[in-house]
Amino acid sequence: MKDTEVFIEEKVEEIKSVDGKAVVGCSGGVDSTVSAVIASKALGDDLLGVYVDTGYMRKHETEKIDNILEEMGVNHEIIDAREEFYDAMEGVVDPEEKRKIIGNKFIEIFEREAEKFDADYLVQGTIAPDWIESGDENRDTIKSHHNVGGLPEQMGLDLIEPLQDLYKNEVREVARELGLSTAEKQPFPGPGLAIRVIGEATPERTEIVKEACHIVETEIEKAVENGEMDRPWQYFAVLLPVKTVGVQGDKRAYGHTVAVRAVESLDAMTASFSKIPLEVMDRISTKITNEMKDKVNRVVYDITNKPPGTIEWE
Ligand code: XMP
Repeated sequence: MKDTEVFIEEKVEEIKSVDGKAVVGCSGGVDSTVSAVIASKALGDDLLGVYVDTGYMRKHETEKIDNILEEMGVNHEIIDAREEFYDAMEGVVDPEEKRKIIGNKFIEIFEREAEKFDADYLVQGTIAPDWIESGDENRDTIKSHHNVGGLPEQMGLDLIEPLQDLYKNEVREVARELGLSTAEKQPFPGPGLAIRVIGEATPERTEIVKEACHIVETEIEKAVENGEMDRPWQYFAVLLPVKTVGVQGDKRAYGHTVAVRAVESLDAMTASFSKIPLEVMDRISTKITNEMKDKVNRVVYDITNKPPGTIEWE
């Protein structure tokens, strides 16, 4: 890729040529954040970044994204839609149904905000692998295009896609050039923690997986910093719909089971489970069971490669 500084300048100039207002969905991922920052440099307050707190985000994620967008000067709003999402997910256990409900709800809220802002354009963090296979060549950064990324046709917004010719590693280079702390972030699924709670993703069960994911991330990142291991490609926890017998002090306990997943991969198409040092696993397990004493009394490690498993459990 050519010079990242030149790339950013060129994209900002291109986007400056649009006449009207734009919205961008900020998920916190590197692609959408980089797109939002570039578009913001061109459009200023004519750009609105919309971050939807679905209730299925990582611990502290909402505050982090809010701070990053603030620091980068991106005009944005945080929509607290936790109740709305939890209500919609009541009684839902099927993974694909979870995805569908969350996707639709997200679109509904996003459309509502775009309409309020009176937007003409939609900025998307589409990158090359997202469209190359569909054979859509010769795309301009700014063009009329519909129904990408699940956003429905009736939105009638023209698209701005500053990263459409870049691969992930190049997006990370641009992120570093912009001074974004999200540059090295691990992938996180759109439906969020809802697909890491096997069974119904109630607020209570989501809290358990949120804390467990946080512990897995923190302990692994500490171990990487200490030179005990390399950083896995992706690492998280899953809450299983299984209760097991344990012992708490001198009493019998009956608590939840958490699975820890960490994988090595290049493109998520295939993956192998990370050979995490046992000392690190020990710290993760002890911390999870100590910090959630009355909830979790068993931690297991997933030693499945992809295929035949997938990275996520749902
Ligand atoms: P799997 O579980 O299929 O995941 O091996 C491959 C990669 O994709 C992420 N993933 C998703 N990302 N929406 C997303 O945006 C989804 O519904 C979804 N499901 C899985 C997963 O975290 C992994 O990086």
